[in-house]
Amino acid sequence: MDVAVIQMEPRILERDENLETMARLLGAVAHADIAVLPELCPCGYAFSSQDEVDAMAEDAYTGPTSSLLQDLARENEQVIACGYAERKGDAVYNAQLLVGPGGVMASYRKVHLFNTEKSFFSPGNAFYVSQPYKGIRMGLMVCFDWFFPESMRTLMLMGADIVLHSANLVLPYCPDAMVTRCLENRVYAVTSNRTGYERGLHFIGTSQITAPDGTIMRRLSREKEEAATACVDPCLAHDKHVTARNDILQDRAVGAYRL
Ligand code: ACM
Repeated sequence: MDVAVIQMEPRILERDENLETMARLLGAVAHADIAVLPELCPCGYAFSSQDEVDAMAEDAYTGPTSSLLQDLARENEQVIACGYAERKGDAVYNAQLLVGPGGVMASYRKVHLFNTEKSFFSPGNAFYVSQPYKGIRMGLMVCFDWFFPESMRTLMLMGADIVLHSANLVLPYCPDAMVTRCLENRVYAVTSNRTGYERGLHFIGTSQITAPDGTIMRRLSREKEEAATACVDPCLAHDKHVTARNDILQDRAVGAYRL
């Protein structure tokens, strides 16, 4: 199956323009089975007030982002993961929507909030892994979650074969670190990052598709809005052997991990 990584530069608070850009970039990878867009893609990242966040927050099922992505997922027979600001009751989450040809599959709420996000968003408290889709199980993760090895380990133990990672990276470490995260869990990852400058923040691009053996299958530029695809084989993620006698699931020494 083909997975697509999409890199773009959202404009802060310009949702209509961002949705147009998302649709255009998704159009270039309409043949892919799964496509991943960056964190907070329809609204931008560097909010300066709760009013700004509230104005951009949307319902997971009926909001403008969800409506557009549901239409495109149905038309292209594709699964799409995309970061957005989710409104649920009184709370707003830095969330990631997963939609497929049959509609909304999940909204994952970022567990590990980064820096000023803590002023505007409530943290999530649960990870999510899908049922098999064309033989692959998708785990969801948003940006700074990667910094905690427990995130991808939890997703792998829950059964994920591929981690769909929507990001707005400002620190330089993640693309190289994903090699280790994928290797130690024997899973694929699609890290979809944004580019550009916003209110003094610089985002590093270098979106990436990483294989279970740590191979960097695709790495995008630092600056450009672009998309790329790679062919993934779920069997590689199902095989947890690193040597004939080392299976990373069977070799976990759970009794020795007590703190
Ligand atoms: C981040 O979590 N957006 C750095």
